Amino acid sequence: MITSTRPRVGYLASTFAALALAASSASYAAEDLKIGMILPMTGPFASYGQQILNGVHLYLSEHGDTVEGRKVQLIIKDDTGVAPEISKRAAQELIVKDKAEILAGFGVTPSAFAVAPLSAQAKIPMVVMNAATSSVTEKSPYVVRTSMSMPQTSAPMATWAAKEGITKVYTLVADYGPGHDAEKQFVKTFTEAGGEIVGEVRVPLQNPDYAPFLQRIKDSKPNAVFLFVPAGEQSVAFLKGFEQRGLRDMGVKIISTGDLTDEDVLDATGETAIGAITSFHYSEAHDSTKNKAYTEAYYKAYPSKRPNFLSVAGYDGMHLIYSALKKTGGDASGDKFISAAKGMEWESPRGPISIDPETRDIVQNIYIRKVEKVGGKLQNVEIDLIPNFKDPSK
Ligand code: PHB
Repeated sequence: MITSTRPRVGYLASTFAALALAASSASYAAEDLKIGMILPMTGPFASYGQQILNGVHLYLSEHGDTVEGRKVQLIIKDDTGVAPEISKRAAQELIVKDKAEILAGFGVTPSAFAVAPLSAQAKIPMVVMNAATSSVTEKSPYVVRTSMSMPQTSAPMATWAAKEGITKVYTLVADYGPGHDAEKQFVKTFTEAGGEIVGEVRVPLQNPDYAPFLQRIKDSKPNAVFLFVPAGEQSVAFLKGFEQRGLRDMGVKIISTGDLTDEDVLDATGETAIGAITSFHYSEAHDSTKNKAYTEAYYKAYPSKRPNFLSVAGYDGMHLIYSALKKTGGDASGDKFISAAKGMEWESPRGPISIDPETRDIVQNIYIRKVEKVGGKLQNVEIDLIPNFKDPSK
């Protein structure tokens, strides 16, 4: 069963006592297991919610909606994107009123930051399916992440760039947690490898006007621009501006985390993305039996969308939940669930992955990819691989 509501504004009951009582009164035997999903379902990040849910539903359709005799009930709360107060209220409602035993989703970092203290207080597992700021996993001992962290995806790009003879880089990042993490890690790894940073700029998270930044980048004549912008429409705006201002013709390379060339927007970039080099953990074009089955099943279920990193994080997040519950005999209480999740290993459509028992963060291959046309369709074609890579900032 799926219910979907926006959290009631003005909802109270945020006290430690209410949260602790809600958690302790949960008795699991034979009861439905309620998973509270906090996701942007409307607003500029709505495609994140949709993609994560597509992955979650695909997993349920393949594995059934019952685990250890408990029927899984998803309760979906729309937090509208970067709106920490709404995310927090949604979590309060889910824990206190709906008696959700697991929280999951979290499209953006501010949403995960807002909810983590409640997960810690109520001792409720929090399965993070996107929010990628490194410290998200440190905000509650009950957080486990199935997506990525920004230092994890940024460091390999710096190593690769230095190895390829790129010496001067300008960095451009969205001005919030993930962007700061990407910038910090890229600059560290790249300068340690002998590279030079010729300029750094942070752009507003929402609706940035890239024109003045692109002009500054052009004037400083770098070999490449490294960037992190949240996946979505901004990629299209950046890539179009990059081309229109003549940076591509000047021979400036684009090196970026794979958020820029997410399959969800790749078609909309037209040819402007061709040649962009990115580092990331998931490509629709990843060549494995598991990914072939995943992408085929995805297109069958959602013919008008392309499978992307968000859908895979949702799919793997459900795998983690099911596998942990199988180990605990259906007990979702925080300590048991998290100790079952620690050290778990499985094969994802992205490749082999595991949960680091010390950090509860994901360990995975990071691929260097190049955007190319494959069979008439833009794809992130993998050209190099850094195996079993952990967040290097932890
Ligand atoms: C985040 O807010 O943590 C975030 C959002 C979009 C991305 C990556 C990270 O593409």
